[in-house]
Amino acid sequence: MAPALLYQCLVCLAVLAGSATTTASHSQCLDNPPDLTAGGDQAGVVVDDLAGFKAYVTGAARSHRAIVLASDIFGFEAPLLRKIADKVGEAGYYVVVPDFFNGEPYTNGTNRTEWLQAHSPVKAAQDAKPIFAALKKEHKYLVGVGGYCWGGKFAVEVAKTDGVEAVVISHPSAVTADDMKVQLPLRGQVPHFDSWSSE
Ligand SMILES: *[C@@H]1O[C@H](CO)[C@@H](O)[C@H](O)[C@H]1NC(C)=O
Ligand SMILES: *[C@@H]1O[C@H](CO)[C@@H](O)[C@H](O)[C@H]1NC(C)=O
Repeated sequence: MAPALLYQCLVCLAVLAGSATTTASHSQCLDNPPDLTAGGDQAGVVVDDLAGFKAYVTGAARSHRAIVLASDIFGFEAPLLRKIADKVGEAGYYVVVPDFFNGEPYTNGTNRTEWLQAHSPVKAAQDAKPIFAALKKEHKYLVGVGGYCWGGKFAVEVAKTDGVEAVVISHPSAVTADDMKVQLPLRGQVPHFDSWSSE
């Protein structure tokens, strides 16, 4: 599967997951908790220590291409997010969905302002560096990041570091124009994208 197709795959799956429409607003993004009962079979497993993070891992473990998928504020347990990860994995990628919230995703009733302060995507991007280092060490030469909502902001922040080759953001939350000035192929929700392929 060509990298460019991966983008379409990610984006269309994101739409399937109900987490991305081009017109949805920031707050809808934060106000749409996943259906945690929408499960089904999962192809992957949860590991306790991916460079210090708990993570759902799936896909082609020996592939040289890896995707780090960052969840929205509702966390890495969302069944549909895992389904997306599985699909990308089926396309030949090693996919990891880390728990960037250390077991504390946003839950209904939590003070969101305080939660976001405690779980800043900017800080998470710094904290995630060992993940990317570990992937490189495992010979994942092409590493991409996909992010939804909170994860979109996270992905943009990661793009400012040198650990990744490509970034896919879907329905990013709080992404600023400055964030877009990254020296990487950065994929928003535009249907054509052809400059990613760097294999
Ligand atoms: C969240 O909580 C509010 C009130 O506390 C309630 O009205 C709403 O239905 C809850 N939403 C979900 C998805 O549980
Ligand atoms: C949430 O926390 C912030 C900061 O502590 C506070 O200013 C705000 O009033 C709180 N909101 C609610 C709805 O409690």
